[in-house]
Formats: sequence, structure tokens, C-alpha cells
Amino acid sequence: MSDANVISDTNPLIREELKDGVLVATLDDKGAVFNTLTVALGEALGGLVARAANDLAVKAVVLKSGKPDSFIVGANIDMLAAAKTASDAERLATNGAALLLAIEQSPKPFVAAVHGQALGGGFEIALACKALVVSDDKKTVLGLPEVQLGLIPGAGGLVRLAKRAGLAVALDHGLTGKNLRASKAKKLGVADELCPAAVLDRVAIEIAQKLARGEALPPRKEKLQARATELFLEDTPMGRALLFKKAREATLKKTHGNYPAAERILDVLEAYAKHGEARAAELEARAFGALVVSDTAHRLIEIFHAQTALKKDRGVDAKDIKALPVNHVTVLGGGLMGGGIAFVSAQAGLTVRIKERDDLGAGRGLKHVRGLLDERVKRRAMSREERDQVMARVTATTDFSGMSRTDLVVEAVFEDLALKHAIVRDVEAHAPERTIFATNTSSIPIGRIAEASKHPERVVGMHYFSPVHKMPLLEVIRAAKTSDEVVATAVAVGKKQGKTVIVVKDGVGFYTSRILSPYMNEAAYLVSEGVPVDVIDEALVAWGFPVGPVALLDEVGIDVAAHVGPIMMEAFGKRLAPPATMLALVKDDRKGRKNRRGFYVYDEEKKKGPFAFAQNKSSKKRVDESVYVALGVTPKASGGPTPEEIVDRCALQMVNEALHCFGEGLLRSPRDGDVGAIFGLGFPPFRGGPFRYLDAKGAKSVLARVRAFEDRFGERFRPAPLLVELGTSGKRIYG
Ligand code: NAI
Repeated sequence: MSDANVISDTNPLIREELKDGVLVATLDDKGAVFNTLTVALGEALGGLVARAANDLAVKAVVLKSGKPDSFIVGANIDMLAAAKTASDAERLATNGAALLLAIEQSPKPFVAAVHGQALGGGFEIALACKALVVSDDKKTVLGLPEVQLGLIPGAGGLVRLAKRAGLAVALDHGLTGKNLRASKAKKLGVADELCPAAVLDRVAIEIAQKLARGEALPPRKEKLQARATELFLEDTPMGRALLFKKAREATLKKTHGNYPAAERILDVLEAYAKHGEARAAELEARAFGALVVSDTAHRLIEIFHAQTALKKDRGVDAKDIKALPVNHVTVLGGGLMGGGIAFVSAQAGLTVRIKERDDLGAGRGLKHVRGLLDERVKRRAMSREERDQVMARVTATTDFSGMSRTDLVVEAVFEDLALKHAIVRDVEAHAPERTIFATNTSSIPIGRIAEASKHPERVVGMHYFSPVHKMPLLEVIRAAKTSDEVVATAVAVGKKQGKTVIVVKDGVGFYTSRILSPYMNEAAYLVSEGVPVDVIDEALVAWGFPVGPVALLDEVGIDVAAHVGPIMMEAFGKRLAPPATMLALVKDDRKGRKNRRGFYVYDEEKKKGPFAFAQNKSSKKRVDESVYVALGVTPKASGGPTPEEIVDRCALQMVNEALHCFGEGLLRSPRDGDVGAIFGLGFPPFRGGPFRYLDAKGAKSVLARVRAFEDRFGERFRPAPLLVELGTSGKRIYG
């Protein structure tokens, strides 16, 4: 490997070097952090294929990336957004597919050397190479995440993945968009070789030389090892028909037809299985074209952009504000929320001390963190050594030892103002001056908690969602006296913990709890009118929420909702009044899932053992009919509101309240309001959030609908001043 000579370093995207007959092509878009597939990169790759074919000195080609931890992260989204018509977008797909075919059929074999992320079009390119070598690094992941943007892979990636690893693997990865780790890729036969990153180039070059000499590589996956069921499902027409039937059923159950991209993925792979590659390619390009210009993809791409923008946003407008260093965190209260906060903090590399009331609580907090780490080890998302390293950063105590080193306290004790005040005073007595006091309260205004503080500028809200390790949102709340530095620090910590962070102003319910309140109230009003619980939930789930509002009431706790309701009403008046019937449920000792007495039946899953949760997900929940007796209503068998009306009543309550919040200046931008509703409350992502939804529907028609409800139901549907303004002027939230 001595005679390396540079053939070309003038191409701004690909650096070429000839090493022992192998052209090593390093993709490096100097102007960007990541390589993305653009028209220019496509042309550069086309040129590379041609040059390799014509140059006698080149026997084979290795494709690698010049970026430290990524290969190609997918098609350039701006390029996709620039496609104005379906046929423009279809052309992008056909051109891409033609390029990948040229790579696949190149007389000089191509080998992909992948370290870091190879996603979307990047993974498709790697799959088109004769051989795919991956580094055995944690950062190396392969995936087809297009479905998450409402798109499908457009350059033959699904079919190539199916050819390597089988239809079931292609369906699984295409439909979920999930990442495939390097070792799994090797095991499934997606990758040909797995090696340490340090020798990736060398291994790839050796394989390229082998291929150039006409030597065959070992088979990627031993067919003989395949299980009989897999052979049946993959290799017989009857088996394949069954596979697609099952996949279609499961997909529709999950998407309710709201995500056409998932259905097109099924179509493409089924066309391949039934009619071969050519038919699949044709269908793929057409579907890609139609999806790129669809509303669903537009909304999902906007959300993607919003998330990307939030990653760069420091949460404060002033330019010269820097986040303070945070290395040591104390989590006060190691319960449901505190345990989760300790986990995400330790995962972020911070040292964590859990402070609890007693040894029992301290032990419970540690166990919580350990349990979440063990789960990761079990899923192979983490090694035992890594788990031990993270766990070593977590300690628990019942006194104030270690407080002198604490940079940040996150308080997650019971929701009780007097207790929170006592905690503030305790912390200030033991912690250094610089320590930031963050509270995870779900309803108490931060300013009220800060009243007990000598340094209210260092008190901030960090509102996590349950379960903390899964829910992607963190709502940072700035009170009137919170300093910019403290806000920026809370935001920086949240990002480190892997959260999407929005910053909102202080007030009862902040933003997320506030817009959730009238939405859940409305569902409770519907139940009180005798609309069956499951009819309400099914309507909103079909509309795109992950769970219905009544099931959510059970999850949040009917007692918690009943406690928060009057607080909301006191702050915002009758508009946020919950129906009086809710009290009957509290009297009937119905707290929801936590005491297994709510709107739904929870006894059955007890019998199902440790996998009750997973089973419950797939099997339909049963309404506890006795809830109607407790409420004193007779469920209507027919004649109730249509699903459309149920959806409008609940969803428009959320939209209207979001407009109140935005109009009052609670949010920094509509973007934050949309992101908060989607990532914190499960507002259907493909509808873009309450503000995007309003724009798509048109404020005029939304106003008319809300006014019609106001006529029927009174004050709780009074339109927000901003809705009246927009509905009258015809203006949009997003310009
Ligand atoms: P929890 O009851 O599971 O945990 C509270 C923990 O605080 C208990 O382990 C308790 O032993 C401990 N604790 C009580 N007094 C203490 C003291 N003086 N010093 C140290 N530890 C003490 O409650 P959960 O659900 O974790 O809620 C905690 C906070 O998070 C509350 O303010 C709640 O409103 C808020 N929150 C809860 C959410 C949820 O979904 N459960 C969502 C967002 C916020």
C-alpha cells in the first residue's frame, strides 16, 4: 500500500487516491458538517463511475467518507423541498436509481467502507456496492429513515436490502425507519465485513482487490442457518402473501392510513416479490414523486427542520449569553420522575447524586436507574462495561453531603408548594452560590416556587415528561426573574440529555399542561354526555394521537387531573372548567391506571405476567362499564356525535388554547408551540402541530367551527383573540 498517488483533489466533493490499483474515493462536502446526497454529489459520483471504468490503472473503487463519524446521512432535504411537482421529484428518484445501478454494474467493483451514519440515500449507495464493509463502532448505523419524513427510499434501497437480508428485514427497517447497528448488519447479511475503524480502509481495499481479481466473497448469510418459518415466509409465494398480509394489517393498525409512505413501502416490496425488480423500481419512483410533494411529507419535513433549528437554539435571544458549566447534578426525589431524570443525566455524562427522604427512597432511586440501564444491556444498546461506567456516576444519599459540588439541582419531590419551598431553602443553605435550582413541577408556577429563594434569578423550571427516558421533550420555563444564563444552562443540559428543548414563559400549566387541559376536559364532557369512552378514544387515535384522551386521563391519573382542573379554572376562568362529573370519579376512588380503577379495565393484564405492557399494546383495552354507573350516565349506543365532531371538539380546544398562549407571548415562536404539542403530548406529527394545522385548515374555517361550538356549548369554546384576528383577516401563523 505504498504507491499512493493523488489523482484528483480538485473536485470539491470527492477526493481520489489510487492505492495499489484501488481508487479510494473520499466523499467530503467541505461546506457542510455531513455529506448529503445532492444533485452535485450525484454528478460527481457519476463522473467517478465513468473515470474508474475508463482508467486502466483502476481495478476497483472504495467509497468512503471524509467526515469523522458519518458516511452520507441521506438525500439533501432542501433538494427535495425544491421539487415543485411530483414529476420533478420522480425525476430525482429515477436519476438516483440510475446512478446506483451504474455503481452496482460498474466493471470496476465498488466497495463501501462505512464508519458512522449511513442513512437513507447514503445507505442505498452502500447497498449498491458489490461489498459493504462496516466499522464495528457504536457510531456506525445503517438505516432507511425516509418513512419518518413521509417518504420512501427512492433509489432501490428497499429491494437491495431485501435481496441481501430478506423481505422481512427490508419491511421491518423500511416501515420503522429504525437504525441497524454494524454488528447486526453483519449478522443479517446486510454487510459483508465488520472490522475496527482503524483498519476499515485497509480491509475495504483488500476486499476490492479480491473482487477485482474475480475472487468470490464468502456468502453473507448462510441460507442453511435460516429457520424453517423464515424460508417459508421468504421463499414461497404463499408464505410471501402471508408476510405482506400481516405486515399490511399491522401497518394500518398503527398508522390508521395517516402515513401513506408506509403503505407505499409495502407496495414496492410486494411488487418486487411478485413481479421482480423492474416493476418495483417503476412503482418506487412514482410513489417517491407523489410523496415528496404531499402535505404529510411537508409537515414531517417542517418538524424535522424545527427540531434541527432547536438543536442550535440556545433558548435565549441575547447573543452574548453562555451556558454555565454543569458537571454535577443533584436530583431531589428519586421517584418516578426523579429516577428518570437521574438516568438521562448520567447517560449524558454528568455525575448524579439522588437525594431522598429515607434509605428506602434512595435505594428505589438507584434501582430505577439501574433497571433502565439493564434494559439497555438486554436490548444490546449498551455493553455491560458501559452500563457499569454510567452507574458509577450515580450515587444516592439522604443528607446534604456532596451538595457543595452541585452545579444544578433538579427537584422532583411531591407536588406540594410548601414542600418545594422547604426544599429551596434547604438547598440554598447547603449549596454554593452558583448552584442552579430547577424544578420539575408539573403545575405550580415557577415564580411561586422562587418566592422562597434568596436568588430567584437562579430558579428555573425543567418540565420533563413521563416516562423521562422515552419522552423526547423538555419544557424549560423561565420565570419573571430567571436570568438568561440560567435559562441557557437548563437548555444546554436538556440537549445533553438528548431532549428537544423549548423555552416558555411562566404561568399556570406553562404551555404543554395548559393546552392539554381543555383537550382532556372536552373528552370528559363528551363522556358526561354519554358518548362511549372507546368511541372518543378511537376517534382521536384514528386522527393520529398515539392514545386517546380518556385513556390518557387514566395514565396521567384522574386524581391528578381533578387536582389540576380547579387550579386551571382559577387562573383562566370558566373556559378551563372541567365537568363537575369528574368529581364523582374521584369519590368512586378511580385514579386511573395507578390504582387499576379508571375508565378502562386493568385487572386482566395482571395475569399476563411480565410482558403485560407489550401485550396490552396489541390487544384492545376494555372499557370498565361500571364507570358509566359512577358517572350516572347511560352510554349512547347510537345518535351521538360523529367521529369528526368528537375530533373537532377535542383538537380545536387544544388549538384554541395554543392560540391563547401564543397571543399572550408565552411562546418564543409558533415553532416551539408545534414542537411542544407533538413531542410532549403526541399531537399527530403529520398534522404539523396546532399552528401548522390551523394554517392548513385555514383560520377562517377554524374560527367558524369554534364559534359554532361556542353557540352550542358556551364559554369554554370562546375563540382566542388571536383566532378571531386571524380568522377575520385571513392571515396565517407562519407567514
Ligand atoms: P413520586 O411520588 O414518584 O416521587 C416523588 C419522590 O420524592 C418520592 O420518591 C419521595 O420519597 C421523594 N421525596 C418527597 N419528599 C422529599 C424530600 N423532602 N426530600 C427528598 N425526596 C423527597 O412523584 P413523581 O411522579 O416523580 O413527581 C415528582 C414531581 O414531578 C412532582 O412535582 C410532579 O408534579 C412532577 N411531574 C410529574 C409527572 C408525572 O407524569 N408523574 C410529569 C411531570 C412532572
